[in-house]
Amino acid sequence: MLNEKIAKLINEQVNKELYSGYLYLDFANYYADAGLDGFAHWYEVQAQEERDHAMMMRRYLIDNGFRVTFGAIAKPDNKFTDNNAPLKAGFEHEQYVTSLINNIYAEAFAIKDFKTMQFLDWFIKEQGEEEKNAEDMLKKMALFGNDSKGLYALNQELAARVYTPSTTGPAM
Ligand code: FEO
Repeated sequence: MLNEKIAKLINEQVNKELYSGYLYLDFANYYADAGLDGFAHWYEVQAQEERDHAMMMRRYLIDNGFRVTFGAIAKPDNKFTDNNAPLKAGFEHEQYVTSLINNIYAEAFAIKDFKTMQFLDWFIKEQGEEEKNAEDMLKKMALFGNDSKGLYALNQELAARVYTPSTTGPAM
């Protein structure tokens, strides 16, 4: 049986992951409107990954006897004025998500909930990758984004992202 406080934190994180997906779809909407379909595609794939994260956490709670409940998903509230702004917001958002995952991990560590720590190990690693991806995109945009040919090439590169379901990560 899961500790109640840990279970509630993971349940809240399910909502945060679904919000992350909603946020990235909002980024995709911006880029689709701007004519940058590759950027839009990249964030559509990211939104699918975020849903996977939510599903993995939901399944962990269910498999450990916790009744999952859902709250409202917040409205993304970004009014982007340039093509760099979603990338910056994305990097900041992933740093925030890392802090949330770290907090749950710290709570699990404090009560020696090794099972949850093992479950969260996959997410700790994933956050490292997601922060790096977000930072790399910012760097590439700074290097190539101000030139139309560079922006075109970057858009083509991002269009090639392939969605791979995140289903083999944590032990359930
Ligand atoms: Fe589910 Fe982008 O972290």
